[in-house]
Amino acid sequence: MQITKPHAALLSSPGMGHIIPVIELAKRLSANHGFRVTVFVLETDGTSAQSKFLNSTGLDVVNLPSPDISELVDPADHVVTKIGVIMRETVPALRSKIAAMTQKPTALIVDLFGTDALRLASEFKMLTYAFITSNARFLGVTIYYPTLEKDVKEEHTVQRKPLEIPGCEPVRFEDTLDAYLVPDEPLYRDFVRHCLAYPKTDGILVNTWDEMEPKSLKSLQDPKLLGRFARVPVYPIGPLCRPVESSKTVHPVLDWLNQQPDESVLYISFGSGGSLTAKLLTELAWGLEQSQQRFVWVVRPPIDGSSCSAYLSANGGGTKDSTPEYLPEGFVTRTSDRGLVVPSWAPQAEVLAHRAVGGFLTHCGWNSTLEGVVNGVPMIAWPLFAEQNMNAALLSDELGIAVRAEEANTRSEIEAIVRKVMAEEEGEEMRRKVKKLRDNAEMSLSSEGGGSAHESLCRVTEECQRFLGRDRDLARGA
Ligand code: UDX
Repeated sequence: MQITKPHAALLSSPGMGHIIPVIELAKRLSANHGFRVTVFVLETDGTSAQSKFLNSTGLDVVNLPSPDISELVDPADHVVTKIGVIMRETVPALRSKIAAMTQKPTALIVDLFGTDALRLASEFKMLTYAFITSNARFLGVTIYYPTLEKDVKEEHTVQRKPLEIPGCEPVRFEDTLDAYLVPDEPLYRDFVRHCLAYPKTDGILVNTWDEMEPKSLKSLQDPKLLGRFARVPVYPIGPLCRPVESSKTVHPVLDWLNQQPDESVLYISFGSGGSLTAKLLTELAWGLEQSQQRFVWVVRPPIDGSSCSAYLSANGGGTKDSTPEYLPEGFVTRTSDRGLVVPSWAPQAEVLAHRAVGGFLTHCGWNSTLEGVVNGVPMIAWPLFAEQNMNAALLSDELGIAVRAEEANTRSEIEAIVRKVMAEEEGEEMRRKVKKLRDNAEMSLSSEGGGSAHESLCRVTEECQRFLGRDRDLARGA
């Protein structure tokens, strides 16, 4: 009897922060679990870092036309609202592509903002999974919060009390999600609509692992705690990170790092499209210079609006700007013996894996966070938007592998925090802890000894195989 492979269709939201983990999940399902995979992404300019990355995956990647949303959103709308509209408008194109497939997908896997596509499941008889490209803490908060009474929500958002989450650390008001602060705006409704869809799938995959988030995962898997709200199995499948391809990557930053001593360089990056105000950018430059530490800084022009304004446009380093005239005059010359400024985009996975890197000033996007951890690099947490404040709390308060930059607004405060991580005992202690976490991250992915990510994906595979078998039996009986 010929055994048909299960077929997973994965749908990614726009942005490298979403595409990278979706691709890594697709690779694992294909290479380690016998799946046929098709990955759906939104088309971008062929020269972008996104296109280059997707061309190198060796997977079946299908481009969906990017819908024109200019009449549907206001330019000032939040990036979450814009992504939600893009993803909703993409469903008809996805539907046509699936309808045209000879072997229909066994499972449809959507990421955080792809939940509108879940309605295709009954039409094409597919299992559905939500892939949380962030962490268990984020999942827990986002499925729990919408179930609370208005006055309980207001204790948190108006009276600024910590939000108690069953079985987990509370969320401080300062760390809460932007969406919760605007309950009457489309941002809140759009965001919550996605979160309420996760428990209606057949399972929720999260890019994390047991040692990284023991409390949140335990609670999500306990039907008396957050499991009551998750309702379906929660599978930790992380850390899924972009692989390091040092031998294939040619970039001046790697040549420069080759000249530096071990663990001596602080790498600074604000993710796919994070940006600072002109004032903070200037203070960061002075703080770095005064710290006298080595650094690599991926720098973008300042934006005095929202810190995620560049998210959909910067995406993958399209900016041609190579003259950082927005930095203090003479900065590059004065720091040339110990620092390198890289405009817009750097090969981050390779940089963080380089032996010379000893610290990471990060906006705490979840992919960047994981890349820091799997390379055993202690962090300075400088969150900007979305769930990044909660991620920063996890890294500093729960895991002790980062210091938070929330008090660092002036150059001397920034200088002090940089020195703490790069040159003081506190940084050494964090380095020891993060290296321990790195070691058990490797174990989570391993097929030997029952790593938690591997085991989770085995369970998903069995479920898909059973579904495929059942479907075929039904088809035979028909
Ligand atoms: C945002 C959220 O904060 C994140 O938690 C969420 O899950 C997705 O959206 P983003 O700004 O995209 O994140 O950051 P992050 O999740 O860290 O992903 C950025 C990715 O781009 C990383 O894999 C990073 O290695 C890569 N990158 C970024 C580069 O390769 N080079 C760069 O210069 C900047």
